[in-house]
Amino acid sequence: MTWKCALVLIVATVCFAKTVNYKDCGSVSGTIYSIDVTPCDVEPCTLHANTNYSVHINFTSKVNSKTAKNLVHGIIAGVPVPFPVPVDCCENNNMRCPIVAGYNDIYSNTIFCSPDYPKIRLVMKWEVQDDNGLDIMCYEIPLQIS
Ligand SMILES: *[C@@H]1O[C@H](CO)[C@@H](O)[C@H](O)[C@H]1NC(C)=O
Ligand SMILES: *[C@@H]1O[C@H](CO)[C@@H](O)[C@H](O)[C@H]1NC(C)=O
Repeated sequence: MTWKCALVLIVATVCFAKTVNYKDCGSVSGTIYSIDVTPCDVEPCTLHANTNYSVHINFTSKVNSKTAKNLVHGIIAGVPVPFPVPVDCCENNNMRCPIVAGYNDIYSNTIFCSPDYPKIRLVMKWEVQDDNGLDIMCYEIPLQIS
């Protein structure tokens, strides 16, 4: 790789990852420090069809938990609609499991924007639940599908 390519790569990575604003909707079993979405240049992040988006969340659990489960809803005009995603965070989201209270970790996820999604603005509500069904993370971010 030439130095020019390397520079373009570095600039692209820096420009396209965004630390986004989010609403904490009740992370009782954990603490969210920051959420990054890549690529996203302005908020609300716009998801384009046939594109992969990655989400990285810096968090610390307050509890020990063997498992963690994703539970996702798209809130469309105020109505939460279940959104299917792979459930097991230990297998799919690069979390260190079992989850240990006080350990700072990064949760990773890739979302594929299907061309079948309606082209609307919505709020994504994402929960990661511990063994007891309590939220280690609960966050809401607005998204535009385009
Ligand atoms: C999106 O990611 C999936 C899984 O890694 C991959 O198979 C697919 O080719 C990617 N699609 C695009 C358009 O990048
Ligand atoms: C996560 O955020 C905390 C608090 O801002 C910071 O101290 C820590 O270095 C971050 N962890 C990672 C892996 O980025």
